[in-house]
Amino acid sequence: MNNILEIHDLNVTVRGDEILNKINIEVPEGEVHAIFGPNGSGKTSLMMTIMGFSDYKITSGKIIFEGEDITELGLTERARKGIAVAQQRPPTIKGVRLRQVLDYAYAQNAANARELEDLITANGMDKFLDRDINDGLSGGEIRRVELLQLLATRPKFAMLDEPDSGVDIEALELIGEMAKRLFSIDISHPAFRRSGLIITHTGQILENVYADKAHVMLDGTIEGCGNAQIVLDTIYDSGYSQCLTCIKRKVNQ
Ligand SMILES: Nc1ncnc2c1ncn2[C@@H]1O[C@H](COP(=O)(O)OP(=O)(O)OP(=O)(O)O)[C@@H](O)[C@H]1O
Ligand SMILES: [Mg+2]
Repeated sequence: MNNILEIHDLNVTVRGDEILNKINIEVPEGEVHAIFGPNGSGKTSLMMTIMGFSDYKITSGKIIFEGEDITELGLTERARKGIAVAQQRPPTIKGVRLRQVLDYAYAQNAANARELEDLITANGMDKFLDRDINDGLSGGEIRRVELLQLLATRPKFAMLDEPDSGVDIEALELIGEMAKRLFSIDISHPAFRRSGLIITHTGQILENVYADKAHVMLDGTIEGCGNAQIVLDTIYDSGYSQCLTCIKRKVNQ
């Protein structure tokens, strides 16, 4: 199986401070991986670096996407290659309405338009369409709008940064459905999936989107990986450090 994404020995600084240290990760085509880790461990920074945000300076290491070295490419070029992120704290973009972004995306992918417009109407999201992007939206509303933009653009590799944080129970159901739809390419072949990464603290989103594997981040590095549900259960039962002790013990056996 080919890897859609490979990260090799990646070191990243933000404004001179090293925040990611020797990150290695491989995501095979068609797999979705979860990332767990305590606050401040570097999860968002990893997604922002993969996306190519210019604050995140790669000092060494490589990012390979579909076999091509994209380490030196900027954000726009990476987006054109099909990488996208639903951000944890996306900016407000004054002067650009959600409707304009969706129309632009529909023009690239018309088949998607009707299905998405039905989803927008059925879930009362039409009230966001004529507002500037994220302007005055609540945390839970931002989660929905971020996912909507990913559904409209249909990236090859979708990254979701805490899509399930701070959302009420009903919105969580909708977000789960939207995420499931995002990662399924063809509803009649559910095993044939779009690839990506999902950061989650609670794992709630993983009830809708199956994660093939989970990586645990601690202090700016990926310390181990394993079955997503088992890793999550271990974190719940005994904390991040204990979980990593288990993973490392298994790797060394
Ligand atoms: N733009 C920035 N400027 C300065 N420090 C930053 C910046 N971005 C990230 N950091 C620092 O890097 C570290 C990792 O932050 P990051 O947001 O990646 O953590 P996280 O794992 O996503 O945490 P959380 O679970 O709280 O979202 C933190 O100590 C943070 O303060
Ligand atoms: Mg974060």
